[in-house]
Amino acid sequence: MKALEIIPFNLKFMLVIIAFFALISGSCKKTNEGGVVAPTTAIDTTLYKAMPFPMGVALNVNLLRNNTKYNAVATKEYNSVTAENVMKFAGLHPGQNTYNWTDADYLVDFAISNGKRVHGHTLIWHNSQPAWVTNFVGDSLAWENLLKTHIQTVMTHFKGKVGSWDVVNEAFDDNGVLRTSIWRQKLGPDYVARCFKYAFEADPSALLFYNDYGQENNQAKRNAITAMMSSFKNRGIPIHGIGLQFHISYTQSDANMTSVINAAIGSGLKIHISELDVKVNSGKSQTFVFTPALAEQQAAKYKSVMKIYNTIPQNQQFGITIWNIGDGDSWIPNFQGAPDFPLPFDLNFKRKPAYKGIIDGVK
Ligand code: XIL
Repeated sequence: MKALEIIPFNLKFMLVIIAFFALISGSCKKTNEGGVVAPTTAIDTTLYKAMPFPMGVALNVNLLRNNTKYNAVATKEYNSVTAENVMKFAGLHPGQNTYNWTDADYLVDFAISNGKRVHGHTLIWHNSQPAWVTNFVGDSLAWENLLKTHIQTVMTHFKGKVGSWDVVNEAFDDNGVLRTSIWRQKLGPDYVARCFKYAFEADPSALLFYNDYGQENNQAKRNAITAMMSSFKNRGIPIHGIGLQFHISYTQSDANMTSVINAAIGSGLKIHISELDVKVNSGKSQTFVFTPALAEQQAAKYKSVMKIYNTIPQNQQFGITIWNIGDGDSWIPNFQGAPDFPLPFDLNFKRKPAYKGIIDGVK
């Protein structure tokens, strides 16, 4: 007080002006990628504490190991984790008789020591296949054995630690026809059902999911998946949940999201929004600028997703998983070949308006 009193009035006025501009510029920094970082939202909670269902995140194990900010957000904000890549076939099983558990075990240990659930992703997929599989030569029995051995070795390794699995990922093409993956070619169209049987044998207590993308906007694909789910039920094939990836855009229609969720509710299965991210650069512009207005629209879409998910009966809510932590970690820019800012944390792991949108969605 005393020190302030001896400052002349004019100088005090100047100091107030300077402080004001410092505040404004600090809360709206330019990033080095042409995006505008929206003001940090000061919210006194964390995502998982605010959600009435589990709130998950996909993690990059290298970042988890080496980036303390990344690790801190993962620890603080989420209570369920999925491996972004290290539990895929090529990551875990790089040679016919070689398994590499190191990275996946690191992730599982991180989760267990921090009291988080682990969701396994993914046992059988047409991508991330090691060369030994694509080059494998054998009759149908040898292929069947390869499939079964992979599923059961992996699930046995993580038994008691990983309570749920995406058993098969993306088996359908966009036209709703079963994809001509190597699995379908070598094992016939009913291979999906057999994957679930093998998974159940390996760990009868695990929750088994079928996971796929684009079901919110693609009726043919949705119908095909729904038909497969009900045929599994009729045939007694063990399946417990459906994963809706939800790699969506900020322009995604709420009506379509509502109708895919309603269809999933009708299946009676558990529902996992399994890979959520909300793109903002739909035009794939190379000089894209993430404006505060777009950040608000993105926040509104995150809010809609939460609101719609929250209409699901509680016993069918497996939870929502966001596909990585900060905008700098997202797979989207690489995948679409253009910048994007699809996640609730920015390049510096600061909370974006999307973060507030998520919390507002369940209020
Ligand atoms: C993506 C990862 O995020 C990328 O790092 C990797 O290069 C390719 O796979 N559907 C899925 C996920 O089921 O496994 C994919 O993850 C994204 C689309």
